[in-house]
Amino acid sequence: MPLAKLQSMKGFQPIVCLTAYDYNIAKLLEEEQVDIILVGDSLGMVVLGYGSTKEVTMEDMLRHTGAVRRGALTSFIVADMPFGSDETPEKALENAGKLIDGGADAVKLEGKPGIAEHLARHGMQVMGHTGLLPQTAPEFRVQGKDKAGADLILKEAKDLEKAGCFAVVLESIPADLAEKITSMLKIPTIGIGAGPYCDGQILVINDMLGMFEDFRPKFAKRYAQVNELVKKAVKSYIKEVKQKRFPGEEYSFS
Ligand code: KIV
Repeated sequence: MPLAKLQSMKGFQPIVCLTAYDYNIAKLLEEEQVDIILVGDSLGMVVLGYGSTKEVTMEDMLRHTGAVRRGALTSFIVADMPFGSDETPEKALENAGKLIDGGADAVKLEGKPGIAEHLARHGMQVMGHTGLLPQTAPEFRVQGKDKAGADLILKEAKDLEKAGCFAVVLESIPADLAEKITSMLKIPTIGIGAGPYCDGQILVINDMLGMFEDFRPKFAKRYAQVNELVKKAVKSYIKEVKQKRFPGEEYSFS
């Protein structure tokens, strides 16, 4: 979907976003016409088994961005700038360029309006991210509950818009703060744990499919129990192999 169309959805039609990390899921999301696919650095935890998103490298992001693009040839794909890849304007520009060359339409970075501005000025499509910033947060909890915290998030959201971001992710903030930010910005807000008043919503696909159980945030509604299906299928396979019922004639060559 072209960026202008996405932005014109603000106030008219909720924007549907999901993360994807591989070819197959990306293909399914494209078939179902998800508006934005994010190759999130949540990759590190839900796919690669790292302890945090801090361990995700550019190499990881490039491999998975390529896989997602091969599955979703026409979707609007955003790739996360991994921890440390955006620490200076020059480094951020070089790494953002690699992610775009690797298949992304846009990049997302956590906070850092100054860096976002540098990227946007050099022609990159940039998605902002404020509220809970997993790459640097000391702990995962709701942000902006007191006035001082809320003011900082509101200011950062405004600064990200001013920097030229085309949209901003609001993560783990009270619903009324997200509503206020959404009404003050011209660009769409995409919420995760930010209540119902954002212009769009995003979830980590492994959370919503019930494929990741190490950590379960309150906002991560389960729409399926894929782990249960996998366990059931594996149990059946083990049983059939042990009982020498698989492979039967129909799965063998004569
Ligand atoms: O990495 C990620 O999946 C994200 C979403 C939670 C917005 O940044």
